[in-house]
Amino acid sequence: MRRPYLAGNWKMNLDRRAARELAGALGEYLEANPASKDIDVGVFPASVYLDEIVRTMGGSRLIVGAQNCCDEEAGAYTGEVSVAMLRDVGASSVILGHSERRHLYGEADELIGRKVSLALLGGLDVILCVGETQEEREGGATEGVVATQLRGGLEAVSASDMDRITIAYEPVWAIGTGLTASPDQAQAVHAYLRGLLSSLYTDEVADSVRIQYGGSVKPSNAVELLSMADIDGALVGGAALTPENFIPILEAGLAAAV
Ligand code: 13P
Repeated sequence: MRRPYLAGNWKMNLDRRAARELAGALGEYLEANPASKDIDVGVFPASVYLDEIVRTMGGSRLIVGAQNCCDEEAGAYTGEVSVAMLRDVGASSVILGHSERRHLYGEADELIGRKVSLALLGGLDVILCVGETQEEREGGATEGVVATQLRGGLEAVSASDMDRITIAYEPVWAIGTGLTASPDQAQAVHAYLRGLLSSLYTDEVADSVRIQYGGSVKPSNAVELLSMADIDGALVGGAALTPENFIPILEAGLAAAV
């Protein structure tokens, strides 16, 4: 049984006060609900607020991570933030290969693979995102696309580091659109990805790696999605921005944990 992992990708939303209030509300929820020890909960604020959110949440079980990192260790890379800097402010994880990074900022698999290796080397856990566009799905290319993205992202990752990797399947057509992959559609891709992990590594690795679903997850669809055999959590955008929406998604995770 894989431990459900529910994560909120806050993207470029929330100001300092709103970020602190949301993290505080989640921390209080975890504290007040001992059963929540059966799930992992993460938040991924804008990098400028990481320091403050980590310090606010000190001692809580909330995972606090970054939404991106640089593919170089240090030096003349204007505007970038290094793995060491993220570690320095207390981040423990980083989201890499998100479709917004791939499609809006032109990040390719090779670059993402370099970021994944550097993040692991520097002590960050990684959520590696993969997912096809609407056009790719309609063209029957979904499996080929996610396979290339998975292989590229994990290019330099050894089996022994796979316990620090979470995969997030995020179909691009379902992100921020209100369209959600049906539980069966998502399950089919998750099962395919797990099979691929087994061929790239071992059955044990494939069995233990968590694969989150992301793309318009909300309280009304979370239970159904999380009840699927190979869906081990969610990477949530819009619905992770308020406790009113995110906490019911955590509850769905808890229900899936039993
Ligand atoms: P939405 O939940 O807003 O569709 O975003 C999903 C996402 O991109 C999470 O990384």
